[in-house]
Amino acid sequence: EKGGYDHFMLKEIYEQPNVIKDTYRGRLLANQGIIQMAGVEDNLEKFLHADRILIVACGTSWHAGLVAEYVIEEFARIPVEVEYASEFRYRNPIINKNDVVIAISQSGETADTLAAIKLAKEKGAFVFGVCNVVGSSISRETNAGAYTHAGPEIGVASTKAFTTQITVLTMIALRLAKAKGTLSNSDFHRYLQELEVIPEKVAEALTSTNEKAKEIATKFKAATNCLYLGRGYNFPVALEGALKLKEISYIHAEGYPAAEMKHGPIALIDEQMPVIVIAPKQGHYDKVVSNIQEIKSRSGKIIAIVTKGDTQVKGLADHVIEIPETSDALSPLITTIPLQLLSYHIAVMRGCNVDQPRNLAKSVTVE
Ligand code: F6R
Repeated sequence: EKGGYDHFMLKEIYEQPNVIKDTYRGRLLANQGIIQMAGVEDNLEKFLHADRILIVACGTSWHAGLVAEYVIEEFARIPVEVEYASEFRYRNPIINKNDVVIAISQSGETADTLAAIKLAKEKGAFVFGVCNVVGSSISRETNAGAYTHAGPEIGVASTKAFTTQITVLTMIALRLAKAKGTLSNSDFHRYLQELEVIPEKVAEALTSTNEKAKEIATKFKAATNCLYLGRGYNFPVALEGALKLKEISYIHAEGYPAAEMKHGPIALIDEQMPVIVIAPKQGHYDKVVSNIQEIKSRSGKIIAIVTKGDTQVKGLADHVIEIPETSDALSPLITTIPLQLLSYHIAVMRGCNVDQPRNLAKSVTVE
């Protein structure tokens, strides 16, 4: 059942190239320049006339929502707000008829997300679901939706659900961009082609980063704290990397937008503090490099995720993990991979119950 892997989590990490492909199969036709998802096509007018898109979710799904905020605003130029479902439902939120609400949930059973959907529907919003479990409560309660095709996720720590959610949300952003004309034709086609080869790049990242992640894990398995930093599209990835480490290894970890470091967390940095910095070549590279210099001058231990062939960060960081190059907007699908592996190996080395971490349940059906 674990397909030869020691844990479901590892199996699910390694399934990502296939399940990302399963998720875009029949929906992304790169050579024909087409993106089609029935739930979006049938409701295209609602999306196009939306004053704004509100995204509600919890946990890892909320992190996927943050990536979606960046990608939908960038590609389709529709204002997006991302909310924790638990906060949204209890704060008398302003919801209008012309709002589109996207609810993201792997299990489709999360109590707070379900309640947020009901509230949004009562206020007349159109609610679109991005769920993994077919026929789940959230998939039934939403007006329309698009499934992720991650297959059953057994490990409590979400991995393949996250990357397939990002895949669906990126396709939605591209479809809306095409309809609105907010991306140039050449950019639109380039992103389609790039998305199509993402599974190969994820596969390459799995092969090329696993040993390095393990080696780094041996060095930092006894850490008591850890900081994760990223900017732009990789800020949510920093949050997700920190959540994965907390959940399965019980090491305290925080994710921050790299530039926020100097507004507080920098006080934590000393020679004991591992800082994982997501620093791919595309994106705000130079800015991240200066953040790395700031950490280095305070003797923090730097573990950097960099694009293959990088030299500048290599000269500064204590450890680097190289990943294949892709455009900034699609990079979360790749940068996430070594962070999943790193937390997995650390948890295993600490003797933790990786698939069933203490105090956690796979579906949070009570608030
Ligand atoms: C993290 C994790 C949780 C879930 C959250 C939402 O690894 O598993 O944070 O992401 O409970 O669950 P879903 O997506 O099922 O609504």
